[in-house]
Amino acid sequence: MQRVTVKTAARPSSYKVIIGAGALSLLGEVAQGALTVHARRIALISNRKVFKLYGAQSAEALRTAGFDVAHWLMNDGERFKNLRTLKRALAFLMSARLERSDAVVALGGGVAGDLAGFAAAVYLRGIAFVQVPTTLLAQVDASVGGKVAVNADAGKNLIGAFHHPRAVVIDTDTIRTLPLRELTAGWCESVKQGAVGSKELFDMTYNFLRREAEDEKHARVESLERLIAAQVAFKASIVAGDEREDVTRTDSRSRRILNFGHTTAHALEAATRYRRFRHGEAVGYGMLVAGEISKRLGLLDRSGLELLSDAVARCGRLPRADDLSEDMILGAISLDKKSVGGHLKWVLLERIGRARVVDGREIDKKLLRASLRAAFERASKNK
Ligand code: NAD
Ligand code: GLY
Repeated sequence: MQRVTVKTAARPSSYKVIIGAGALSLLGEVAQGALTVHARRIALISNRKVFKLYGAQSAEALRTAGFDVAHWLMNDGERFKNLRTLKRALAFLMSARLERSDAVVALGGGVAGDLAGFAAAVYLRGIAFVQVPTTLLAQVDASVGGKVAVNADAGKNLIGAFHHPRAVVIDTDTIRTLPLRELTAGWCESVKQGAVGSKELFDMTYNFLRREAEDEKHARVESLERLIAAQVAFKASIVAGDEREDVTRTDSRSRRILNFGHTTAHALEAATRYRRFRHGEAVGYGMLVAGEISKRLGLLDRSGLELLSDAVARCGRLPRADDLSEDMILGAISLDKKSVGGHLKWVLLERIGRARVVDGREIDKKLLRASLRAAFERASKNK
């Protein structure tokens, strides 16, 4: 097992992330260690699909540690991460009579984690919760850092809070049952973290993907554990330095750099009404676009761009995007909700492993259009 500590300014001032094959069996004792002695009830929130795979084992581990466990299953899918489901989740917490000392356990991908985490953040003005992420994306990114939210009609994650989990239990075995597209999405987010984090993390991720193509898929348990731990440690370091994503920060260690690839990704998702791309897949395209812009602005050299592009290609097949209208995507980019003071901030690369935040006004329309076209051509050649 690997262990990573996430430091926070909130109380308690840190929490542990336990990572390894079979970590689910430790859920009870991890929860016991992370919660107060007064915690008696656990409300497990998941969906039918994940609960069928890992629910019994999770509930058993919690019961063995002495907790009363009740569970509630939300509908599966991004479109259910909304206020209506939140209301139902809160009704469940009330009917299960959870007290302030009790806790929620989120079992599933980022959708279950974000929704259950937000329910825990607002129920009785905030109770403890434990994340048990079962997708690669949630393991390397969503479960760590305390961002919890639901979507609104006007856009994704518009209603939310910062509410850190008391512990995160990552059983790397759970990704064996993940559909291939979910793996691709998770690898794209992993490449993203390497690209902005450090050359070492990027190389570790890239080498894993290269070797995985040669070996049996889903194999190589030990190096997967180490890789996920390194990804989590990177995310923890960014969160510790900029917990609430300070809007005034634009430096290369600000939390904002985690949005590398996200400006185009959000536009692609919105332009296709969230039906075509898994979020991580759209980030795959977004990184190629940001890479092309970085190269055209003279920040990233050709070899850096080629390496980034090869890493994205190794994440898996991306849905097609070359049939989408450039004008529509450019229009959606200009509406990005992450803008500050009315202006977009692009996360670009100076080199692999170092991000640079650039004001959108420094990127003219022609350059953006050319970058978009070049990135889509690159992606279709990669197929
Ligand atoms: P998801 O939660 O929808 O999971 C993807 C699919 O995989 C679902 O159908 C789910 O039921 C299924 N699944 C989950 N675990 C499985 C397993 N082990 N085996 C088989 N199937 C399994 O999607 P996701 O990609 O995990 O998360 C995306 C969400 O995460 C988005 O809502 C996004 O906004 C959010 N997110 C949050 C943060 C954050 O910091 N809070 C960061 C990144 C993404
Ligand atoms: N996934 C981006 C963040 O946690 O800030």
